[in-house]
Amino acid sequence: MERADTNHPPTSVVIFGASGDLTKRKLVPALYSLHTKGRLQEKINIVGFSRRPFSHDEFRQLLLSGMQELAGVIPVEEDWKQFSQNLWYVSGDLNDVSDYENLRTFLHQLEGEPSNRLYYLATAPLHFPVIIDQLGRLEMTREDNGWRRVVIEKPFGSDMVSAIELNKAVHIVFDERQVYRIDHYLGKETAQNILYFRFLNTIFEPIWSRNFIDHVQITVAENVDVEHRAGYYDQAGVMRDVFQNHLLQLLTLVAMEPPATFDADSVRNEKVKVLRAVRPISLGDTVRAQYEGYCQTEGVSSRSQTPTYTAIKLFIDNWRWQGVPFYLRTGKALATKTSELVIEFKAPPHVMFELPDDYVLTPNQLSLCIQPDEGIHLRFETKVPGSPQETRSVDMEFHYRSSFKGESLPDAYQRLLLDVLNGDASLFTRSDEIELAWSIVDPVLEGWASSPQASPLVSYLPGSWGPLEADQFLAGDGRTWRLGCGGHEAGEQDG
Ligand code: BG6
Repeated sequence: MERADTNHPPTSVVIFGASGDLTKRKLVPALYSLHTKGRLQEKINIVGFSRRPFSHDEFRQLLLSGMQELAGVIPVEEDWKQFSQNLWYVSGDLNDVSDYENLRTFLHQLEGEPSNRLYYLATAPLHFPVIIDQLGRLEMTREDNGWRRVVIEKPFGSDMVSAIELNKAVHIVFDERQVYRIDHYLGKETAQNILYFRFLNTIFEPIWSRNFIDHVQITVAENVDVEHRAGYYDQAGVMRDVFQNHLLQLLTLVAMEPPATFDADSVRNEKVKVLRAVRPISLGDTVRAQYEGYCQTEGVSSRSQTPTYTAIKLFIDNWRWQGVPFYLRTGKALATKTSELVIEFKAPPHVMFELPDDYVLTPNQLSLCIQPDEGIHLRFETKVPGSPQETRSVDMEFHYRSSFKGESLPDAYQRLLLDVLNGDASLFTRSDEIELAWSIVDPVLEGWASSPQASPLVSYLPGSWGPLEADQFLAGDGRTWRLGCGGHEAGEQDG
């Protein structure tokens, strides 16, 4: 992680939606942690903007207690004292132009000139257009005296049409180079390591194709249910909440070609090519499910058809991946929290050993564990000592926690915030990437709505590994769900 340059003019981080969960849970803990590590430039101001009438001190107190309760971060008194001197609050209505004028005046007084400014949109998505529009009207995005950047939280739109509309609204006011659409999965060390693993080693890339890979599985499993976010979640569902962004981003990292250089545009050009090559998903290749009890959640309609789980098979129509199925699954209220990619290799073409008749060969598997037990596992067959006929699958393992003792993995938001401050957009999604991701997801959502019988909504028990139908779905292809790093053993049946 690079140190922020200290020779810069003052920088303001303006957070819209400053009294919300994200600010307390992620943004302020990340900024505080960067501060304690000396990675923030000295002259930084963090200015919260939201409707509630706090004084600066009340806001600081709100963040302190929120950070402790929601993120479990207990700051060191002296560090917090120093850090909180740079926290400010402006109360205002997102729809009222005079409140933006107040904000502008406050910022001018605080910063002087020149100054850099980062606008962080951490509000509900419906407010994004009005904030962008107001910033544009008041010329708060002009770069005459320092840079202006905007971070836009997910979900970016709710389908392709709304994402295009939002991109249009953004581009009236900002150049694309000023825009940072966040997907926090890209800020996870282990997600970034997929590219280092693939392209900084020579031994994996030659076998990284349809010639050696049987199929790929990507799992993002959560053990929490919808918690207090029912209002949002019942509208979004699993496809918009996680599949369209986190899962498809992981897919691009595992499937993309190596770019010549590691700059934002080269990386994103390659990711876009993957998304463009995804074959339209057949409804028969989807499973959608809802956990039992979901409809009894406060804020959820009692007849809600919103899926909280999905398993989908897709194909990438290019030379590298032709014919290789990618199985993507994600859901809430599952047995455990784990995010993992499993690459399953083809079976050896000929087995010369005299193995028992009922012998079932376990294929080689490479598991890239994004969280929680971050690491990489390679599963292969070995001979059981003393027996000519018996073999066993064993693991070659790498764990961050043992290989990098004493170094805790930084939270994704730390990396991403620092990247925005340093002007590096490699780990942020470009407008075309977002629109392409929606073009993959929209037909599935439309199909589920218009032909529900083609992929009926099924149910699963909270705390299970999802619906039986998801196991049958893979079994139909002669395969099983795998988790090499966490959750449950490779080869074990789900259910
Ligand atoms: C968010 C989704 O983007 O990602 C949440 O809105 C989900 O519903 C979360 O819980 C998962 O992120 P992580 O980092 O906990 O795997």
